[in-house]
Amino acid sequence: MRLPNDLRETANEIAPGVVADRRDIHQHPELAYEEKRTSTLVAARLSELGLDVRTGVGGTGVVGLLRGRRPGKTVLLRADMDALPIQEENQTPYTSRHLGVMHACGHDAHTAILLGVARVLADHRAGIAGTVKFMFQPAEEGGAGALRMIEDGVLDDPAVDAAFGLHVDTERYVGQVALRPGPAMASSDRFTITVRGKGGHAASPHRTVDPIVIGAHIVTALQTIVSREVSPNQPAVVTVGSLVAGTTYNVIPDTATIQGTVRSYRDKVRRHVEERLTEVARGIAGAMRATAEVDYRVGCPSLENDAEMVELVRAALGDLLGTEAVLPREPVMGAEDFAFVLQRVPGAFMHLGVRAPDWETPRPVHTATFDLDEEALPVGVAALAATAIRFLASDRS
Ligand code: NI
Repeated sequence: MRLPNDLRETANEIAPGVVADRRDIHQHPELAYEEKRTSTLVAARLSELGLDVRTGVGGTGVVGLLRGRRPGKTVLLRADMDALPIQEENQTPYTSRHLGVMHACGHDAHTAILLGVARVLADHRAGIAGTVKFMFQPAEEGGAGALRMIEDGVLDDPAVDAAFGLHVDTERYVGQVALRPGPAMASSDRFTITVRGKGGHAASPHRTVDPIVIGAHIVTALQTIVSREVSPNQPAVVTVGSLVAGTTYNVIPDTATIQGTVRSYRDKVRRHVEERLTEVARGIAGAMRATAEVDYRVGCPSLENDAEMVELVRAALGDLLGTEAVLPREPVMGAEDFAFVLQRVPGAFMHLGVRAPDWETPRPVHTATFDLDEEALPVGVAALAATAIRFLASDRS
């Protein structure tokens, strides 16, 4: 195979199979750690290609090992397999058949693309020096599936020298890829605050300790942590996404429950927000005769792309797609649990444009009308395959 032109051609040739896999997975979406059908399909495909396959890694994860003809380094390529609890509203031949579950974040595409990469590289085995490890992970959406696979040895035996992955990007057009060196995506933690007061008749508030009023004060005060206590130069977000209390208009309930998320880039900021969030919630509740119990769950770290690896990807994709198609990217406060992998091995995470040329507005992820232009699938296949080949051929150890 001559690179990179043949690689794009090869990816286009296998595109119908990649599209078919994507549609199959899209029609049968599965939530975090329930990806049984999907992982069975993945394992079957990898076995057909002659890879060494390990299933049940970190729950429903699958690992495929492709050994090249000659010895060399090991590169890991990763896809995520889980869907979201969203009822799909699209009417297409491949609309989700599972009630209330939808691949609304493109993980169906990520999985189909990586299976396509496995096929391309398996055919190209004779030209490969080193090993390609394919990581299909469960539970990217807040379930720390990558971490569970790491604990289950996905980065060992053989040890991984570099890791790459991609995510669909609904803003950018098909044929474009975007990435940035250094910090690219935020850390993501979640919290639950339970305010315990004393319920009673709505007409006798003096005989109660009203958790709704206290909860409202806490929600407002939490907004001052970022605005008054974190440097304006440091990105941070505190969002309350849920405030639940009471059942009817004339009863003061006993408790109120507040749930939210904290996003940041620096450990110092992350720890400060956690500490102050706890103090503010408990302090306000205490001052108003209630108690607040704070359950703070540390999630995935911020995602850090290795500068040298980003250069390698840029070079590979520049040759493949043209340098004008390889775009820079601003850091975002969204999170990505591939960060657990990049915390341990150098690598890069790229964003693949999936917007059709004639879509005037993007179709955002995590919505009931999300969709992607399937022309992007062979681009993704070629991009990841080119990256792996470039890394294995590089002198970086
Ligand atoms: Ni996603």
